[in-house]
Amino acid sequence: MNSGNHDDSQKSVDASCADGFNVVLVGFMGVGKTAIGERVAAGLGFRFADTDKLIETAAGKPIPEIFLERGEAGFRALETSVLKQLLGEEHLVISTGGGVVTVPENIRLLHRLGYVVLLTTTEDVIFRRISANQNRPLLQTPNPRKTVRELLAARAHLYKQAADLEIDTTELNEAEIAFGICESARVQFRNDSRK
Ligand code: S3P
Repeated sequence: MNSGNHDDSQKSVDASCADGFNVVLVGFMGVGKTAIGERVAAGLGFRFADTDKLIETAAGKPIPEIFLERGEAGFRALETSVLKQLLGEEHLVISTGGGVVTVPENIRLLHRLGYVVLLTTTEDVIFRRISANQNRPLLQTPNPRKTVRELLAARAHLYKQAADLEIDTTELNEAEIAFGICESARVQFRNDSRK
């Protein structure tokens, strides 16, 4: 992805518009939630949190080991408990793991946490990005490309249930995506603070 520059995305949000609000990024593995989340946090003057990192800290081990020892269900339980711990936080941009939407309770928690932004792109782009990284236990299969296709198909409707805003990132660079999210979040927070 290119990284252009939009000075406006670096403006801090007016604090009075942001109290009690977070931005939550959801989407499939490899869509760029972490890189974009960090830019959005800088643009809004929010802190950045990554649920995968919080899970690793809580478990004291990396994600592949958590999957090995506790299975996917054990990992999902940790993911839900991390989301619950974040309730009550504010001024956070929260990047989530790609499978967070597979647990119905998590979708409710995501909505309570804040403004949920879904990042999407094509299967080709996703596959190219994730091929470079062996740290994703769910893709350690004989045919990872087929696994990506199946997981995308199984999860598409769940991502939509979770999302307040959807952005197809395919033709955009990181700065453009972050700028769009910052502007949308500012409008959302301003409207919510007037309710
Ligand atoms: C997962 C995505 C990963 C991580 C775990 C499971 C998934 O996060 O939470 O390996 O089920 O899609 P990223 O989306 O940040 O790769």
